[in-house]
Amino acid sequence: MIPLTTYLFQKAVRNPVIDDALVLIISEITSAAKIISGKVRKAALLDILGSARKTNVQGEEVQKLDELANEIIIETLKCTGKACMLASEEVEDCLVLSDTGYSIAFDPLDGSSNIDVNVSIGTIFSIQKEDVKKPGREQIAAGYVIYGPSTMLVLAFKDSVSVFCLDPESGNFILVKDNFKMPEKGKIYSINEANYHKWTEDGLRKFVDSLKEQKYTLRYVGSMVADVHRTLFKGGIFIYPADVKNKNGKLRLLYEANPMSFIVENAGGLATTGKEPILDVVPQELHQRVPVILGSKWEVEECLKYLNG
Ligand code: AHG
Ligand code: MN
Ligand code: MN
Ligand code: MN
Repeated sequence: MIPLTTYLFQKAVRNPVIDDALVLIISEITSAAKIISGKVRKAALLDILGSARKTNVQGEEVQKLDELANEIIIETLKCTGKACMLASEEVEDCLVLSDTGYSIAFDPLDGSSNIDVNVSIGTIFSIQKEDVKKPGREQIAAGYVIYGPSTMLVLAFKDSVSVFCLDPESGNFILVKDNFKMPEKGKIYSINEANYHKWTEDGLRKFVDSLKEQKYTLRYVGSMVADVHRTLFKGGIFIYPADVKNKNGKLRLLYEANPMSFIVENAGGLATTGKEPILDVVPQELHQRVPVILGSKWEVEECLKYLNG
């Protein structure tokens, strides 16, 4: 039963990239996630469900838990004294705390449309050295916490992906899987088919139709953390494509696509915009969106054949 902090210090001995400041940042992000997990699990009792009656920079109606999770993470990271820039889905501009250190891009609460119906949601984070607006391939670490039947942490460094489960009794994230690798191929595809006729690429429709002919199952939760977590563990493919209304799709590069792509690639999968690996995209805007096609090698490569066919 290895707790997260022990795991990080043991990893730091073998990997000089993992310095004390990074251990502190990761420990504190996951501490914030424990607090958020507690709030999520009793949200109905705390009157923190529903809308905050505000619209964020994304043009979305902010939920009370979006706002609370955002505040918890920002205050926690400020206290570390090791954070340089913070980029949050819920804050229009980058928060500059110092001119050096680690920069964190984060989605404080992913899957907001599912909060009020008690479906899995989560927190996603991406850690860069200094500047937050760098290609995803330069991430030092990335991860997410999913508030599901269990509260689980999936944490990736350049060389490995590890999985932890929150033990409610000890309050520790306990290592359950190290050097996690995802299946090379699955039998599940995950996409919001309601937009089938709006997708920009006809090749995508042909690809999805081919999966149906191969008897794939469709699973779509509508929280990226839940759909990616299932794809990691069962294999298959998750897609949020461009459509005629959103030419770059819906998912944000810095705090959704990049961290999830970093995790998937380090777990042996692939992640592409359809035109280039997501991790190679050079960020222009803080909240820029990219089409996301990620998952098992076989399905992503098959999808690319149809898109470039
Ligand atoms: P967020 O709640 O952080 O704004 O993210 C919601 C995203 C992502 O979690 C999910 O994959 C996607 O929205 C679902 O979008 P649709 O409801 O349009 O399918
Ligand atoms: Mn949102
Ligand atoms: Mn999100
Ligand atoms: Mn969010």
